[in-house]
Amino acid sequence: MAVDVLLGLQWGDEGKGKIVDYLAPNYDIIARFQGGPNAGHTLVFEGQKHVLHTVPSGIFRDKLINLIGNGVVIDPITLARELRELDEAGVHYANRLLVARKAHLILPTHRHLDKASENAKGKAKIGSTLKGIGPTYMDKTGRNGLRVGDLESDNFVAKYEALKQKHQELLKIYPAVDFDLDQEEAQWMEAVETIRSLQLVDGEYYINDAIAEGKKILAEGAQGSMLDIDYGTYPFVTSSNTVTAGVCTGLGVSPQQIGEVIGITKAYCTRVGSGPFPTELFDETGEFLRKEGAEFGATTGRPRRCGWIDLPQLRYTIMVNGVTQLAITKIDVLNQLAEVQYANAYQIGDKSTSQLPYDLCDENYTPIYSSASGWQADLDGTTEYQNLPQNAQDYVALLERELKVPVTMVSTGPGRKQLIPKA
Ligand code: GDP
Ligand code: IMO
Ligand code: MG
Repeated sequence: MAVDVLLGLQWGDEGKGKIVDYLAPNYDIIARFQGGPNAGHTLVFEGQKHVLHTVPSGIFRDKLINLIGNGVVIDPITLARELRELDEAGVHYANRLLVARKAHLILPTHRHLDKASENAKGKAKIGSTLKGIGPTYMDKTGRNGLRVGDLESDNFVAKYEALKQKHQELLKIYPAVDFDLDQEEAQWMEAVETIRSLQLVDGEYYINDAIAEGKKILAEGAQGSMLDIDYGTYPFVTSSNTVTAGVCTGLGVSPQQIGEVIGITKAYCTRVGSGPFPTELFDETGEFLRKEGAEFGATTGRPRRCGWIDLPQLRYTIMVNGVTQLAITKIDVLNQLAEVQYANAYQIGDKSTSQLPYDLCDENYTPIYSSASGWQADLDGTTEYQNLPQNAQDYVALLERELKVPVTMVSTGPGRKQLIPKA
């Protein structure tokens, strides 16, 4: 099987960027298959931190091809900014960064609509990153969108103007919000030229030809499975399929090509933005996790909500994704704790269940917690799994037993080398 998948099993920010960067040398192509610049994937190596929003996380590895697949929505302004940062970091991407023609473009007015629509929701707001994701996917499924391939057409500007016009009509239904369209548009038109200078490909042919040549592909997820448009905590979700099935539609590969599905979970849990989070902690332990884990959004800088790991939630996303191996990140954040808690079931009325209820927005459930002993030790310098403190190994073994999926990687810090493979 040619295409392995790596995705987040919680509400995003599980450490996908770091693990993709670590695994990248095992592959020929890294491909983003959904989402857009709402993603912020952090890579740390050689004392430098890099945050990627649209560019796949294999870009720092020599020779690797990085494909922005057709399921992605692209904001030319953000992409051009990312490329400038890569230029500054001395990364040669010109022959290694490909963009699928069928990927949709985020227009300035998509961002304007996102802002106006969120603003109008008041307390019911999603907590969107305001990058224009929802409105762009709405135009895609509404069959009005503008695609990267349209950049090559003679009537691109006319298509752009028609869509902008439609957005301006739509904006009339919302109370006005601050947005400098003239300035944004000028920047956008300039950034579009940067995209034109990249290699545009028919992504589905590119990937399937690569598969036929025996190349190995890693599909990089964005967001997390609990933000999936179908299976997440609707309506507090993003607008794409973040789960494994999204790889097939987002890259144009058949299900038969999917091999390993690597699911990533933090050793605890976070969420940024609004919506249900059953195991959220509002006490000093939550504050401790936020501080110790530096839990502030890579895209918006917002503080992330923090809580204990939720096993019914993970069993659900493991099931929906067909996860074959697990990577556990940020285990070091728990180092100082005497006790680590985990939710193993939910109490609903007088019944306990290990399944997620239909609607997590309905507050008629409480997580049932168990606890494990902490290890109260520093993990710095530990490179072999068997040298981890016994209680840390026991915690990993407990997760494997409860989730019925082998753990193959344990991440002990943000750095590229802070990763312990587990047999
Ligand atoms: P992504 O969106 O899934 O790629 O994750 P983000 O980059 O948004 O957030 C993960 C954050 O945790 C980043 O700041 C990473 O540098 C950091 N990180 C990743 N793995 C670890 C780890 O094992 N330990 C610690 N302490 N930080 C980590
Ligand atoms: P990565 O790839 C965490 C959240 C937003 C909001 C909801 C909808 O870095 O894990 P949107 O901008 O899509 O309209 O926002 O989804 N969200 C993320 N949370 N990590 C992300 O990406 C996210 N992308 C979107 O905070 O609650
Ligand atoms: Mg992130």
